[in-house]
Amino acid sequence: YVERTLAIIKPDAINRADHLEDIILKSGFAILQKRRVTLTPEQASDFYVEHYGKLFFPSLVAYMSSGPVIALVLARDHAISYWRELIGPTNTIKARQTHPDCLRALYGTDDQRNALHGSDSFTSSEREIRFFFPDSIIEPVPVGQ
Ligand code: CMP
Repeated sequence: YVERTLAIIKPDAINRADHLEDIILKSGFAILQKRRVTLTPEQASDFYVEHYGKLFFPSLVAYMSSGPVIALVLARDHAISYWRELIGPTNTIKARQTHPDCLRALYGTDDQRNALHGSDSFTSSEREIRFFFPDSIIEPVPVGQ
């Protein structure tokens, strides 16, 4: 079934954005919405609030507000798990050893600057799409009558 997910091209990969969008399209995703934005530290904190309190949180916020990002709403069947699979493990260095063809292995920098984000669940995808596209109308999943 077709579902949506939120992808982010992060500041360390922004120069490869056109190439990454080509890969996304060739991987069978439709790009439903797209927005290039430089997050304030407050916005980056808000987006990553589930990581608040972790050791890496302050540097994650600094990184994610250090330059422009591109937020994309992607759609295809099983978009959430498929996109996560395509980007690969969070840590770019480890990804290069275990999943050398994944997008983070190819385009990321280190354990934090990992080029791309993907929603980890349906609930996260709904929240994250709303975060970047608050005015968009998201059609409800039809329910039986
Ligand atoms: P992302 O999938 O966007 O979700 C949280 C982000 O925090 C993650 O990608 C990395 O950019 C960053 N991150 C996660 N774990 C660590 C870590 N151990 N050290 C530094 N940054 C991390």
